[in-house]
Amino acid sequence: MNYRHAFHAGNFADVFKHALLTRLLVYLTRKDAPLRFTDTHAGIGSYDLSADESQRTGEWRDGIGRVLEADFSPAASELLLPYLTLVRGGFAPGSTPVYPGSPVLAARLTRRSDRLILCELHPQDSQSLAACLGNDLRIKIVELDGYTGLKAFVPPPERRGLVLIDPPFEQRDEFDKMQKAFLTAHAKWNTGVYAMWYPLKDPAAAQRFCAGLMRAGVRRILRAELWTRLYDPEGPLTGCGLIVVNPTHGFDDEARIILPELCACLATGPGPNWLVERVVPE
Ligand SMILES: C[S@@+](CC[C@H](N)C(=O)[O-])C[C@H]1O[C@@H](n2cnc3c(N)ncnc32)[C@H](O)[C@@H]1O
Repeated sequence: MNYRHAFHAGNFADVFKHALLTRLLVYLTRKDAPLRFTDTHAGIGSYDLSADESQRTGEWRDGIGRVLEADFSPAASELLLPYLTLVRGGFAPGSTPVYPGSPVLAARLTRRSDRLILCELHPQDSQSLAACLGNDLRIKIVELDGYTGLKAFVPPPERRGLVLIDPPFEQRDEFDKMQKAFLTAHAKWNTGVYAMWYPLKDPAAAQRFCAGLMRAGVRRILRAELWTRLYDPEGPLTGCGLIVVNPTHGFDDEARIILPELCACLATGPGPNWLVERVVPE
């Protein structure tokens, strides 16, 4: 486990993932019924962007740094408001910039009646996460393999909610592991909303992943992707995606408003692009 999210917090991939995650949570919290948010690979919750790790890569400057300076259309601004309001809270003038990870965004967007389960396997990161959110009685933090947790924690007693699967993709078989774990969870609970993040290091891998879900009989699959420039297999990561199973009502349209504007804002070279499509049988 070499991956540390502190090097990448607030980069283009976080902005893409968190802007979309926020839309799912905003919708789910409109209904009174309580929900469960499960984060299988939670990270530390909150990231000090003045810390050595962030400073060494500077990735956040081409991510949330740009987004905070950008002018969006009224429609995109409205959709991004819940996310950017929470982010701006960590960028108060005169204080060190702090970027919220998925557990903090979810904790802030959910209600008193909602519950959160956060799995983080790295012992030090799990401790940092506990220091960040451990006082919140709605939240259970477990130092556990996220896929083991996923199997154990679905279906949630509330029978409604969102699972974020956001592994580090350090290992070549991560797509396979994610698919297996997701299918096990989906077989136990097929009405939950599942959001699975992936890097576009090998674009064909995402295609195979979606085809595997279809073959297994999963339906209502949305695929969203963002490239900040043309794909370069030798270069740094320039694209990422999110597979959403059982997307919330209106999510496709919201993503189609948000992503073109994020794409324009986050572009770093020729060929920036975005995609929102339903995955259908071939
Ligand atoms: C991409 S980061 C998560 C970022 C977080 N979801 C967010 O959006 O703010 C992946 C995290 O998974 C943790 N991790 C690595 N292997 C894991 C495993 N098998 N189970 C749970 N967590 C793991 C890493 O320590 C890292 O903090």
